[in-house]
Amino acid sequence: MEEVKLSIFGFGNVGRATARVLLEKGEVFKKKYGLTFKVVSVSDRSATVWLPEGIDLREVLNVKETLGKLSSWTNDYEVYDFTPEEAVKEIEADIVVDVTNDKNAWAWHMEALRRGEAVVTSNKPPLAFHYAELMGEARKQGAPYLFEATVMAGTPIIGLLKETLLGDSIESIRAVLNGTTTYILTRMEEGASFDEALKEAQNLGIAERDPSGDILGIDAGYKATILHCLAFGPITFEEIEVKGIDGVSEEDVERAKRAGKTLRLVASVEEGAVSVEPTEVPRGDPLAVSSTQNATVIRTDLLGELVIRGAGAGLKETASGVVSDIIKAALELRGE
Ligand SMILES: NC(=O)c1ccc[n+]([C@@H]2O[C@H](COP(=O)([O-])OP(=O)(O)OC[C@H]3O[C@@H](n4cnc5c(N)ncnc54)[C@H](OP(=O)(O)O)[C@@H]3O)[C@@H](O)[C@H]2O)c1
Repeated sequence: MEEVKLSIFGFGNVGRATARVLLEKGEVFKKKYGLTFKVVSVSDRSATVWLPEGIDLREVLNVKETLGKLSSWTNDYEVYDFTPEEAVKEIEADIVVDVTNDKNAWAWHMEALRRGEAVVTSNKPPLAFHYAELMGEARKQGAPYLFEATVMAGTPIIGLLKETLLGDSIESIRAVLNGTTTYILTRMEEGASFDEALKEAQNLGIAERDPSGDILGIDAGYKATILHCLAFGPITFEEIEVKGIDGVSEEDVERAKRAGKTLRLVASVEEGAVSVEPTEVPRGDPLAVSSTQNATVIRTDLLGELVIRGAGAGLKETASGVVSDIIKAALELRGE
């Protein structure tokens, strides 16, 4: 039986949801793939818990959920005050899992790859700013670098572009990739003001306390940049055009409604050109999604128009993408 060593960075919503899936479905993965996962370290911003024999995931979940930080772990000799770079250098792992929101994580992703370790991530900025370097190093080392959960959570848009549509030439991609903005625009159509809709989204946990990444289109921009990298080759976030929904007025929403349309924050991706902006979409259009659903319309020379629609956020849904990548990386490391 293969034992695959995982080093998990980030133990927030997605990190804990991923740990829960590994815990609850461990037997299924053993039976289906012959894989056993051993978590050798878990890090948050307060500390790294490191145990080469394997950490009891129930215990680490319990500590984080009851005490709030991993530095509260009681066995002092297992708690380290590493930076992520130091942790990657010290800890021997087969797969480094980055489920943090560390914008500078690309540097330690590079370190893991240089060590020949696989990287699985749901963290967008490393890819949106450093795709070419990361993929170049992964290729050089023959190490998997996987990032399904960065766009549309577990809805498999990355796999589709990277592994499935190999004979097609992509002509264009149009997509709605941010659920928070869809929620706000929908509530504005129903009569709420921008501020009321934003407050509601925050109360429901759809928008973060600092919602600027969503509202200003940055989150959708990161995702659109990643889609361009896959479909057409490297580009960085600095090279794309982004306009958020902060300038959308109640009149704009009304005008679209009267014309039988709906406003959505739409990403358009063509070779060498990526833009994100509020756009009027006909009511029956595949991009007229509601709630936290995301949708992508891919146009290719052979298939014509292909629509993929599904969850764009959510903890189980994001863990689906992360865990699928962990299994994919483990199978790849085993030579399959
Ligand atoms: N939530 C979703 O639906 C979703 C969907 C797709 C992708 N994502 C992406 O997945 C990532 C995680 O999202 P989340 O919702 O789980 O966020 P979160 O709840 O804020 O968790 C982030 C975690 O990362 C840790 N962290 C940040 N910087 C770190 C560092 N340098 N070293 C070690 N740990 C560090 C934080 O530590 P502390 O606990 O000490 O603060 C926290 O545990 C983000 O990049 C997000 O964009 C999320």
